[in-house]
Amino acid sequence: MTTTTNLFQTGPGGEPLAAGTPRRRFVHVQTFGCQMNVNDTDRILQVLTPFGYAATDDPAQADLILLNTCSVRDKAEQKMMSQLGRLAPLKEYNDDLVLGVAGCVAQQEGERLLQKVPYLDLVFGPDHVGDLPSLLDRVRGSKERVSETTFFKRKDYAFIEAEPPAEVRVSEFVTIMKGCDKVCSFCIVPFTRGREVSKDADMVVREVERLVAAGTREVTLLGQNVNSYGKDLRGDRVPTFAQLLRRVDAIPGLERLRFTTSHPMDAIDDLIACFSDLRTLCEYFHLPVQSGSDRVLRAMRRSYTREGYLEKVAKLRARCPGIALSTDIIVGFPGETDEELEETLSLLAEVRYDSIFAFKYSERPGTKAAEMEDSVPEEVKRERLARVLALQDEVTRARMKAYEGETLEVLVEGPSRMASKGVADRWQMMGRTRTNIIVNFPVPMGEFWAKRWIGQLATVTVEEAKSNSLFGRLA
Ligand code: 5AD
Ligand code: SF4
Repeated sequence: MTTTTNLFQTGPGGEPLAAGTPRRRFVHVQTFGCQMNVNDTDRILQVLTPFGYAATDDPAQADLILLNTCSVRDKAEQKMMSQLGRLAPLKEYNDDLVLGVAGCVAQQEGERLLQKVPYLDLVFGPDHVGDLPSLLDRVRGSKERVSETTFFKRKDYAFIEAEPPAEVRVSEFVTIMKGCDKVCSFCIVPFTRGREVSKDADMVVREVERLVAAGTREVTLLGQNVNSYGKDLRGDRVPTFAQLLRRVDAIPGLERLRFTTSHPMDAIDDLIACFSDLRTLCEYFHLPVQSGSDRVLRAMRRSYTREGYLEKVAKLRARCPGIALSTDIIVGFPGETDEELEETLSLLAEVRYDSIFAFKYSERPGTKAAEMEDSVPEEVKRERLARVLALQDEVTRARMKAYEGETLEVLVEGPSRMASKGVADRWQMMGRTRTNIIVNFPVPMGEFWAKRWIGQLATVTVEEAKSNSLFGRLA
């Protein structure tokens, strides 16, 4: 990386950069996929900032463009490829532009991606976010095309302790672990994110404390499988996930606590107890079931049965009656029959989730399931997905309708999207209930008061339920 000093360059706040500070550059990152990637993008910006980079939304202005990619289903991968094609012409106008791919596709494809895409300069996996400055040095300095996708060994992996950004959001994510040691047969994650590595609990607590001190009110603890938190750590003071939740819950000033994602196997009693015991832990649990058929669950290597899963749901609801549940469903897994799909539908009808995420099975190279014949035709997958979504639509609608007339605690996050389209004199704000539903409500007396609501708990009476959000007024 060039490190010319230029006193006319300015820092993020418009202040002149100190002598010796690298010249100002712009980075444009496009993020695909899950929350983990969103979080990695934050880390990318964090490691680049001391090197004089500022984020930009405009790819044409950027000196560095990164696609932070997802490979969990094939669509995400195709999206990345077409996006790369769209960005390629920018290189003709800017010799200095570096184009890179990060995230799960990068991890999986590595070198091959450089071969496939001739105008690509840089490919790096999630373990190498911290090395980005030196990787860029190699690309810029020696005009190399660089691919770095080796996994750190578990014991060598070090988390970058996250400093709070200059301006924190009301609701922030804190990564507590990376990787996944489960062996679900359809899933690419263990190949792209490697083995489970947990972040030191003191580091997690410090990160949350700093965010809260800077104004954050709600924190979501993040990992591919948070319930196995700590299993890879040694020492007598290593907390289980439930114990970690208890430590974070005790942080003064924190209003709400959430976590994602969980594997049902590890959702054991001490975790379930947290939902009734902890002040901040929100009544919302995302518990991916994937299928309602025992045969399919076995082939997916999910290591629980339909009945075992339903027992956990019953326990959760007994401990925490108002808890909102959501799940992930895969339709069209190899060999899935019509009857087996019916079992998924009946499970959905029985649990009555508040919301679901449903996907068509997508064969991922290298996984166990890829060795089975992808036997369900695309058309049938499409039709099954439509049936699952139609059933859930009805349930979701009924569940949302039930909120009408209720008075709820809403943590206000900011102006609602309609406000940015210009609602006249009354400002629309948006926030979330503890059960993770978006609520829009107007605040009287314009912008000044609207801003003061951000980060506050509002009491809102729901007047109307739409399919994805609620509308109400201050109680
Ligand atoms: N095909 C379809 N859906 C998948 N998921 C993960 N891998 C695949 C795949 N190969 C879904 C699962 C998981 C969610 C994050 O993505 O439902 O819970
Ligand atoms: Fe993939 Fe299963 Fe791990 Fe989730 S628990 S990331 S589905 S292997």
